[in-house]
Amino acid sequence: MRDIARGWHAAGHSIGLVPTMGALHAGHMSLVDQACRENDKVVVSVFVNPIQFTAGEDLGRYPRSPERDLSLLRAAGVDAVYKPSVADMYPTGASTHVIVHGVADALEGAARPGHFEGVATVVAKLFAATSADRAYFGQKDAQQVAVVKRLASDLDLGVEIRVCPTVREADGLALSSRNAYLNPAERQAAVCLSRALGLAAEAYGRGERDPARLRAILREVIDAEPLAKLDYAEVVDAATFFTPGSLALVAVRIGATRLIDNHDLKLPYPG
Ligand code: PAJ
Repeated sequence: MRDIARGWHAAGHSIGLVPTMGALHAGHMSLVDQACRENDKVVVSVFVNPIQFTAGEDLGRYPRSPERDLSLLRAAGVDAVYKPSVADMYPTGASTHVIVHGVADALEGAARPGHFEGVATVVAKLFAATSADRAYFGQKDAQQVAVVKRLASDLDLGVEIRVCPTVREADGLALSSRNAYLNPAERQAAVCLSRALGLAAEAYGRGERDPARLRAILREVIDAEPLAKLDYAEVVDAATFFTPGSLALVAVRIGATRLIDNHDLKLPYPG
């Protein structure tokens, strides 16, 4: 991968990277399309990163569709698919991890200890392997975006982090590989995440700025759904994930599946 990337740079080409864990859907492909528009060469990495799964999570049953992924990426016209093995990424003796403090501590970081350490470590390695000039991440994982931006800036990685809007189903549910775990009743219930964010955005649009009131709106919608169990509902600043701001985030358990979604309340809610 590094040799290919060096050749591209030597020829004066820019390189865009789209990191993924495969099981590609239209959300991933929107990142790929934007990368193709903005770069001479595009690499998509497909790697189910074991170190970002916490104990008891779904690493063993994480959805995989390698052949379908490759045909989608071929059709999109990407220049390389980088698929390292776990042993390539973490050979025996590997003992360096990247820890991002502050922005990685709350919410997903608190709910999933070690998760962002795993994300930051693999993303740093993917940036190094691909010599990416730009890397593409989805707003769907808003805290991941904030963590990766800190990582790139703090370690002077020279990668521009590009953020792409969340792609949703017609009823508002954000596309996610984990939606495949939902049975039909759970799938219907899952619309409560985007509905909660929509109502909070409406209230914000009417002038509501009290974080406690906005959190209560999010919580009420989730609590009204019998199949849903709220993990957290927060409204924070999108860069720090600590100070007050306009980014509303929810994490919800529906059966055995944990779903997250978010929306910047300053923006009109789509749909
Ligand atoms: P994965 O869950 O496969 O997601 C890959 C990228 O697709 C992430 O940047 C994610 O935010 C984006 N994405 C997922 N669903 C989306 C949607 N509905 N709309 C827009 N973008 C969406 O996130 C990861 O993998 C991993 O943590 C990774 C960054 C690859 C590191 O292992």
